[in-house]
Amino acid sequence: MPEALFLETVEALIKQDAGWVPNKVGESLYIRPFMIATEVGLGVRPTNKATYILIATPAGAYFDPSKAVSVWISTEYVRAVQGGTGEAKCGGNYAASLVAQKAAAQEGCDQVVWIDAKERKWVEEMGGMNLYFVKGIGAEARVITPKLTGTLLPGITRDSILSVAKDLGYKTEEVMLSIDDWRDGVASGEITEIFACGTAAVVSPVGTAKSNMGTWVTGDGQPGVITMQIRNHLLAIQHGTTPDKHSWVRKVC
Ligand SMILES: Cc1ncc(COP(=O)(O)O)c(C=O)c1O
Repeated sequence: MPEALFLETVEALIKQDAGWVPNKVGESLYIRPFMIATEVGLGVRPTNKATYILIATPAGAYFDPSKAVSVWISTEYVRAVQGGTGEAKCGGNYAASLVAQKAAAQEGCDQVVWIDAKERKWVEEMGGMNLYFVKGIGAEARVITPKLTGTLLPGITRDSILSVAKDLGYKTEEVMLSIDDWRDGVASGEITEIFACGTAAVVSPVGTAKSNMGTWVTGDGQPGVITMQIRNHLLAIQHGTTPDKHSWVRKVC
């Protein structure tokens, strides 16, 4: 879809629904564009006709500062494979994720963490959010996220945080991080904070990680200092209370 046309549709809907935009920090009007094949016929091939739909809903502040999310690292199920559709917002990816999310719940965890399909060791994403790891503390801390390998969704929040963390003076890295690196980093104290990020929740701290290889806990169940600093900075840009030096904000009405 041409970008200009897409933006036009977003502006039109937001203007129409302006009264639904919540105004507390952390709340938002979540905008969800999607396309479905609407060509009449039965067959397995790319469609010649699609319908584009844009919907929006007020989203509450997902963030509960007193609760870090617990995750089940699934070594049985995978979300996406090399050469597949993992880096696109394709409906099938989400259908494929549901059984693992159920398994996570059965393990007493809030969310599933995906690892790569081939070697079954590289950490990719958490549910419908990207992941970040903080190594070290204070000004020397490094803010690290799994590298985009084609199977991760390149979320806009992930991308924004790479810039925000740099703006706040932290070194950032996009790396391959294994389950062992995660467990050992937590055990040695090198990994000090973990958080997931996405448009709706912005940032969610991650605490307990459980897998077939054991259970380990990062931090004390409270959001880390750098996690909160990044979250607050991103929200301040969104709400116009800090300068938007990357020109991310687009005023609609
Ligand atoms: C699989 C997956 N990863 C990550 C994200 C976060 O992406 P964004 O920051 O663009 O909301 C989403 C959002 O829906 C997602 O579905």
